[in-house]
Amino acid sequence: MARKLKDDKWNAFFDYIFFYASYLWLPAVVLLVSYWRSGALGTPLFVIAIGLIAISFYGRFIEPRWLTTKHTQIDLTPAGYEGPKVEISAALFSDTHYGIFRNVMPLKRLRKRIEGENVDIVLVAGDLTNHLRPDELDETFGEFANFRQPVLAVLGNHDYGLPGWIMPDEIARSISGFGVQVLENESTCVSVGEVELEITGLRDHYAGTADYGLLAPSSEDPASRGTPRPHLVIAHNADAAHDYPHGSVADLTVSGHTHGGQIRLPFIFRRIIPTRHRFDRGLYHANGYKVYVSSGTGMDLLPVRLFVPPCLDILILTVPGPARGVGSESG
Ligand SMILES: [Fe+2]
Repeated sequence: MARKLKDDKWNAFFDYIFFYASYLWLPAVVLLVSYWRSGALGTPLFVIAIGLIAISFYGRFIEPRWLTTKHTQIDLTPAGYEGPKVEISAALFSDTHYGIFRNVMPLKRLRKRIEGENVDIVLVAGDLTNHLRPDELDETFGEFANFRQPVLAVLGNHDYGLPGWIMPDEIARSISGFGVQVLENESTCVSVGEVELEITGLRDHYAGTADYGLLAPSSEDPASRGTPRPHLVIAHNADAAHDYPHGSVADLTVSGHTHGGQIRLPFIFRRIIPTRHRFDRGLYHANGYKVYVSSGTGMDLLPVRLFVPPCLDILILTVPGPARGVGSESG
């Protein structure tokens, strides 16, 4: 018998309220102007009120649709490595949050921007949904079929119903159907030209079942391994890096979850980011590991992004290249 799916209805209710209440912006402007014209509002108060309304308009109606691209160079060659090096590129996006908020960044726009960047692989760091209904899955994620690069993804806390519909299997099945490789506590090997990448996807640790054993130090003698093979980890929440086993094989972890604060008001935003280890956005060295946190493209709780527009990250990774000449081997 099919499992009955259910949503976190109270959380969804408030998201609906916030989304539709945001259209009250227009009557608020009309009211404000009429108060001002009638003389009921002094000029300084009017200026402050207009300023607040302008900022809220920008955060609700403009910034969520302003897609930015950020390029970051990251060296993943081991310390002391003197062999050949090559560059590969990965597009990273996260926290698309398709569902109740209809002003989120369309997947088609992300796909087109990625196409222009000519990357080798695409990494998706989870939280694809925000109370997306089960009958909307395929219609929402069909665009994944048009990506030309290998797409590898993990799910996030919202995809596990924390909060949202509790349907991780259904989300994974839908996006897999459009060619996305979902790595929920799984590792795979992806060839990019002559380079081979190990990629591990960890289950979100809010779901409590991340398998850190997949990142245990290798027992192989490094000298017998030939060209070192870079190991990428996709973990929705960067805090996971603090739970890796000592000497873990992770060369780079890519994450999302923070939304860069989403409403990035000075001094306040750091207090609202859901992180135990002060992650925000960009590149970190955490617990001895390189961790890159994307500020995401979507929204949670309020349909607003302020001073942290949706971001597509392009990571240019310097990795060990295949050895050349007599006796060479390709990793
Ligand atoms: Fe999120």
